[in-house]
Amino acid sequence: MIVAIDGPTASGKGTIAKAIAAHYGLPHLDTGLLYRAVGRQVALNGGNPDDPDHALAAAAFAESLLDDPELRSEATGALASRVSVHPAVRAALLARQQAFAGQPGGAVLDGRDIATVIAPEAEAKLFVTASVAARALRRWAEMQGRGEAVTRADIEADLAARDERDRTRTAAPLRQAEGAALLDTSALPIEAAIAAAIALVEQQL
Ligand code: C5P
Repeated sequence: MIVAIDGPTASGKGTIAKAIAAHYGLPHLDTGLLYRAVGRQVALNGGNPDDPDHALAAAAFAESLLDDPELRSEATGALASRVSVHPAVRAALLARQQAFAGQPGGAVLDGRDIATVIAPEAEAKLFVTASVAARALRRWAEMQGRGEAVTRADIEADLAARDERDRTRTAAPLRQAEGAALLDTSALPIEAAIAAAIALVEQQL
C-alpha cells in the first residue's frame, strides 16, 4: 500500500506522514529533504539556485548531507523551493522517490507532487493544508522553541512567497490531485489532525 501525502510547508503533513507510517508499520520518505539537500549543496558549491546547471550539479549531493541539521533551516527551505522549479532537478530525484514508493510492503511519502507525479497509483492520497496564518504561527512557535529570533510577519511573508512559487511553477506544481482527500488542519490540534488523516486513509482503502 502506498500513501501519498502532499501539501504546503507547515501544514502538518510531515508529522501526519510519520504518524501514518507508524500506524501501518510502513517506511516513510520526507521528499522535501531531498530538495533541501540540493538547495544546501548549491550553497556549499557557491552556486546560484536559479541557474538550472548549478542546481542540477547539486542534485549529486553526498548521502551524508541528508543528516546535516542545517537542512531544516528556513534559509535552506527557501533554497529548496528555488532549486525545485528546475525540471532537470526534479527528474534527477524521480527514480529514488519511485524506488522508495515501489518497496514490496508499501510506503508513505510526503511532498508536493507525490499523488500527481511520483505515485499517482497510490491507494490513499491526502492533501493536507492550513491557512497561512495558522502555518506561520506553528513555524514561529517552533523557531521560538529553538531560540531563533524572527517575527511572525517575516515568516508569513516567506511562507506566502514559497506557496506562490510551489503553486505556479510549470514543473509539478503543488495541487490537490484528483481523488485526493482534503484535510485542513488550521483549527486542529496535531492529535486530532492525525486521527482525521488516518480516518481519511481508511476510507480510501
Ligand atoms: O516540505 P519542505 O518544506 O521540506 O520542502 C522544501 C521545498 O522543496 C518546497 O518548498 C518545495 O519547493 C520543494 N519540494 C518539491 N517537491 C517535493 C517536496 C519538496 O518541490 N516533493
